[in-house]
Amino acid sequence: MHYGNERPADLPYDPFKAIIAPRPIGWIGTLNAEGVPNLGPYSFFCALGSHPHMIGFSSEGQKHSYLNARARGEFTFSLATEALTEAMNVSSAAVDDGANEFRLAGLTLGQPVEIATPFVAESPAALECVTLSAEQLRDRDGQLVDRYFVIGQVVRTHIRDEYIRDGRFDTAAARPIARMGYRDYSTVTEAWELMRPDD
Ligand SMILES: Cc1cc2nc3c(=O)[nH]c(=O)nc-3n(C[C@H](O)[C@H](O)[C@H](O)COP(=O)(O)O)c2cc1C
Repeated sequence: MHYGNERPADLPYDPFKAIIAPRPIGWIGTLNAEGVPNLGPYSFFCALGSHPHMIGFSSEGQKHSYLNARARGEFTFSLATEALTEAMNVSSAAVDDGANEFRLAGLTLGQPVEIATPFVAESPAALECVTLSAEQLRDRDGQLVDRYFVIGQVVRTHIRDEYIRDGRFDTAAARPIARMGYRDYSTVTEAWELMRPDD
């Protein structure tokens, strides 16, 4: 099977997100214009580079996280884990600006060092970021689309001490969750090592 813009009838749901899977979840913390914390999950999310460490997320429509990260010039990332699944889901609800999803989800505000935006204190790891760009995306014809990509530079990293083993962040112990397609998720439960040819 292959197809272009017209999906075959025997694929009633778009498999795009099931193919680009699993995707890490950027659990994005921001502050609104009044300084009220905002929190939402974004799986159109990735690490973009190191030194400087950069991460990005894409907003389908002008959602609060995009607007706040652009206006305030900062945002946080918190690692979404199996233990925090319900809170992550609650924080995805479409609520009004100023609703404070940290409070709605029963989460504790982690205190930032370099910026003003809090992160999820319960999360095994979190990143404070300064917004580098917040751009509306274009399609192949150069037409603006209702999608907005935010890039941030990491300025402070938080790791809960119990997840540091032998000088490394123990990702599998943190059990991060990731998005797949439809309403499916995956949990990272194991790690395996592969040396490079020139190691
Ligand atoms: C696991 C998960 C991943 C999501 N990823 C995205 C995404 O990448 N982009 C997006 O626009 N919305 C995404 N959403 C929906 C937003 O989280 C939702 O619209 C939320 O209300 C946005 O919050 P905000 O307006 O406070 O930023 C996702 C939802 C879930 C549950």
